[in-house]
Amino acid sequence: MCGIVGYIGHREAYPVVLKGLKRLEYRGYDSAGVAIYDGKNIKLSKTKGKVADLEDRVKNEISVDGSLAIGHTRWATHGEPNDVNSHPHYSNSGELVIIHNGIIENYEPLKQELINRGYTFQSDTDTEVLVNLIEDVKKNENVKLGKAVQIALNQVVGAYAIAVFDKNKPDEIVVARLGSPLVIGIGDEEFFIASDATPFIEYTNNAIYLEDEEMAIVRRGKKVKVRKIKDDSLVDPYVQELQLNLEQIEKGGYDHFMLKEIYEQPRAILDTFRGRMLSNEGIIRMAGVDDNIEKFLNAQRILIVACGTSWHAGLVAEYVFENLTRTPVEVEYASEFRYRNPIITEKDVVIAISQSGETADTLAAIKLAKSKGAFVFGVCNVVGSSISRETNAGAYTHAGPEIGVASTKAFTTQITVLTLIALKLAQKKGTISTSEFHGYLTEMSAIPAKVEKTLESDEHVKTISSIYKDATNFLYLGRGYNFPVALEGALKLKEISYIHAEGYPAAEMKHGPIALIDEQMPVVVIATRKGHYEKVVSNIQEIKSRKGKIIAVVMQGDTSIKKIADYVIEIPETLELLTPLLTTIPLQLLSYYIAVMRNCNVDQPRNLAKSVTVE
Ligand code: F6R
Repeated sequence: MCGIVGYIGHREAYPVVLKGLKRLEYRGYDSAGVAIYDGKNIKLSKTKGKVADLEDRVKNEISVDGSLAIGHTRWATHGEPNDVNSHPHYSNSGELVIIHNGIIENYEPLKQELINRGYTFQSDTDTEVLVNLIEDVKKNENVKLGKAVQIALNQVVGAYAIAVFDKNKPDEIVVARLGSPLVIGIGDEEFFIASDATPFIEYTNNAIYLEDEEMAIVRRGKKVKVRKIKDDSLVDPYVQELQLNLEQIEKGGYDHFMLKEIYEQPRAILDTFRGRMLSNEGIIRMAGVDDNIEKFLNAQRILIVACGTSWHAGLVAEYVFENLTRTPVEVEYASEFRYRNPIITEKDVVIAISQSGETADTLAAIKLAKSKGAFVFGVCNVVGSSISRETNAGAYTHAGPEIGVASTKAFTTQITVLTLIALKLAQKKGTISTSEFHGYLTEMSAIPAKVEKTLESDEHVKTISSIYKDATNFLYLGRGYNFPVALEGALKLKEISYIHAEGYPAAEMKHGPIALIDEQMPVVVIATRKGHYEKVVSNIQEIKSRKGKIIAVVMQGDTSIKKIADYVIEIPETLELLTPLLTTIPLQLLSYYIAVMRNCNVDQPRNLAKSVTVE
C-alpha cells in the first residue's frame, strides 16, 4: 500500500511523477504529495484526497520546474489521512525530504530518542521519524546521505520502500527496500523510481527490482549502485527487460478498469493456457511443476496460503485438487497461518496465491513454510514481484496488469493455473483416466469462448442490478465448487458497493442465515445443473417460501429453477469442475453495475488498496 514515484534526469520531473502517481493510485488514495527540486530549493505540496486534488493544489501552491522530484500516494497506517500526515516529509532542518511505503514498527522509541535530542515533529507518522533519524545520523556521524540511510535503516524494525534526497546534493536520490516493492527504471541519462514499473513504461523497458534489504544510490549520469543494507557490501544489480506495454495499463474505452478487466477474461484465460496446455497432443507443460514433479507427487499434503480473493481461488483449488489428485489439501488465510505455529514438514507442498505478489501476510507465510523445509510454489500475476522471487518455484497467471482494486481476472486466471496443475498431477498419478484427462483438456480449451458467451448476459445483469441496487443486505449461496464463488460474489459486492453481503454453502443456510430472509433480502444462488442440483433447488424453495428474492445463476436450458426464481442468469454448459470460471462472471458484473448505480468509486473503493504490504 502507498505508491512511491521518483524521477531524476533531463526532463521536467513533475509531469512524469504526477502521471506515475495516477498509475499507482490503486495502491492507496487517501492523500498524495510531491517534492520537486527546482535548482535551488525543494518545493513541496501535499494534500488529503486523491492525486487529482494534489494536481489542483500544486497549480495554486508551487512552481513545478525542476528535473528531480519524488511523489507519494498514501494508504494511511500511522496517523489519519490529512494534509500534515501526507508524504513527502521534511527532516527538521528542511534539507532532507522522504517518501515511504511501509511501517516502521519501532518508531515510538526512535521518536522519543529524537525528541530527547531536540527534534520536533509536525505529523503523527512513522515516516517523519525515519527522515529525522537519517538526518541525525548524517550530522552526528558526519557521513553522506547514502551512508546515513544505511546506518539509520539498520536501527529500524518494520517494512519500507523509501526514496530520499538531500537539498544540498540534488544530483542523487537514495532508495531502499525491505518488505515493500521498489523498482528503478533505467533510461538514457535518466532514472525512474517506483513501486511498480507502470509509471515509467513509456520511457524505458529496463529495470532493476531491488531485493529486500538492498538500497541504491541513483545518481545523475552515473551507474546505479546497489548495496546490502546490513553490511554495505556492493551487489551486482540484474537489469531486467520488462514485457509491459502502455495499452495494458489504460482503460481502452471502458468506463472503469474493473469493467475492462472483467471483459479481458476470455483473453486472460487463453494467455494462461498459452504454451502450457496442448489439448490436441494431450499435454500440460508447466516448467515450475515439471522441474519439481517429484515434490508434488510425493507431497503428503498440499497447503494453500493466500488472502482475500486469492484465498477464494485457493478454496476452489481445494475441491479441484482433492477431486482430481486425491491429495489432501488445506487452505489457510496467510494471516492466520503465519501466527498459529502451524505444523509443516518437508513432505508438504505449500502453494501461495497472490495477484500482486506483494501481500505482506502471504509473504510471511511463505518464509515460515520455507524455514520448516516445505517446498513453496507461487501462483502470482505480477512478474518479478516479491512473492514470485521468494518462492522455490511458481507459475505466473499471465492475466496482465490488474488495476481495478477489486480483483476479477486475477481470480479466474488463478483458478485456471491451479486447475492445470491439478490435471497435470492427476495424469501423472493416474488418479484420473486418460479419457477423463483428455475430456478436461478439451473442455478447458473451450472455456475462453464460454466466458465470452457468459459476458453476453451483461445487459440482463444490468437490469437486475437496477432492481436490487438499494438493497441493504445480500446473501450468496453455492455448493461444492461454487461455494467459494458465493464467497467471492459477496466479497465483490461489499468491497465496491458497500452493501453488506455474506456468502454461505447453500445447505448451511438453515443453520442460521435463514433467519435473515424476508421480502427485502435478495439471495444470489449458484445452481448449475451439475453437483447437488436438487438440493440447491430445495434451498431455493426454502428461501421462496420466506419471501426472499432469488437471483439464480443456472446452466443454459434450465427449466426448473426458471419457474421459481425471480431472475435467472444463464451460463453455457460445461463440466462441473470448471463451472467457477463461468459462474463468477455474472457475479462480477452484478457487483460492478450495482456499485456504478450507487455512485461508488468502482476502481478505488474506500479504505482499500490493491497491494496490501502491511500486515
Ligand atoms: C478483493 C481483493 C483482495 C485481494 C487480497 C490479496 O477484490 O482484491 O481481497 O485478493 O488483498 O491480494 P493478492 O492477491 O495481491 O495477494
